[in-house]
Amino acid sequence: MNYLVTGGSGFIGSHLTEQLLKKGHSVINIDNFDDFYNYHIKIQNTLEAIFNFSDFDYSDKEKDIRKLISLSKSEKYSLYYQDIRDKRGLEQIFKTYQIDAVIHLAALAGVRPSIEKPLEYEEVNVRGTMNLWELCRDFNVKKFICASSSSVYGNNEKVPFAETDNVDHPISPYAATKRCGEILGHVYHDLYKIDMIQLRFFTVYGPRQRPDLAIHKFTRLISENQEIPFYGDGTTARDYTYIDDITDGILKSIQYLQNNSGVYEIINLGESEVISLNEMLATIEDALGKSAIRKNLPMQPGDVLKTNADITKARTLIGYKPDTNFQNGIKKFVEWFLRK
Ligand SMILES: NC(=O)c1ccc[n+]([C@@H]2O[C@H](COP(=O)([O-])OP(=O)(O)OC[C@H]3O[C@@H](n4cnc5c(N)ncnc54)[C@H](O)[C@@H]3O)[C@@H](O)[C@H]2O)c1
Repeated sequence: MNYLVTGGSGFIGSHLTEQLLKKGHSVINIDNFDDFYNYHIKIQNTLEAIFNFSDFDYSDKEKDIRKLISLSKSEKYSLYYQDIRDKRGLEQIFKTYQIDAVIHLAALAGVRPSIEKPLEYEEVNVRGTMNLWELCRDFNVKKFICASSSSVYGNNEKVPFAETDNVDHPISPYAATKRCGEILGHVYHDLYKIDMIQLRFFTVYGPRQRPDLAIHKFTRLISENQEIPFYGDGTTARDYTYIDDITDGILKSIQYLQNNSGVYEIINLGESEVISLNEMLATIEDALGKSAIRKNLPMQPGDVLKTNADITKARTLIGYKPDTNFQNGIKKFVEWFLRK
């Protein structure tokens, strides 16, 4: 099968690409290597996903990405240095390939930065996503998976969060763009019969995790003997999901789309294990064998107090079975981090 993966050089996208290639599929990766975090990391992700090595001589961004593209040319993998806001550029790619399904992961992903740059988030996460649906309509691509987020639940009081809960109260521009994607996605499903699954990921972690996310940031700062910014009193909590469980959930969603038609589903992908900030920090300290130096700070605007996924629907509909507990997942992350 030919899969178009957007954001395939990011954290989740590079793991998904790796799994799809292992299963013998072809992957067309569209990524603009945006500057939300250093493009070197995205080059490393891509190299690890495709070649299982990471040696690379860096010079400047344009040259480096061109070099990566020339290195990674193969029958099974094509990389496009392409922004999803540029519909014309995307169109050339849709013209070139017979695409069986799109897995759309490209986005501006941080919660806090979205408060600084709401318009950019809207352009990428809403307009960029619509460009892809417009082209799916024009080129008759009927299967689409879209990354949504647990952040759409805002400060939902009812736990665990279920797909049937009201999600009309997001508390960050990022969350609102993701909810917008779910709603607009339904329009394209209904009008143009695009089968679609919107996956609400719950804080994903593991090797290659984005450097802006707390687990990665804490691990780096503790290992460098630097202070960690510790927001709130440590009782805020997250349902952390290990990356292999997320890729497994995406692969099962693809399978479901392939076997069914007339589909529009929103599905939570979480671990259903809620870990407080205090517990998260203690687990990292344990894995590193080192204590953190805390800098206590007030809660940040836009941050939700708790996330907790009800994954009954994922289990029954697509056979999702997350099986990495937090202790083991952190051990694997820290091993990866230390081997760098
Ligand atoms: N990591 C998590 O915990 C988490 C949780 C919920 C939802 N998500 C969603 O999952 C998806 C993947 O997240 P991630 O953590 O892998 O993030 P990431 O930032 O590592 O990956 C996103 C990729 O998209 C690319 N991209 C950004 N803007 C683009 C544009 N305009 N055109 C083309 N490519 C662009 C980036 O260069 C990056 O490689 C995102 O949609 C994110 O919102 C992630």
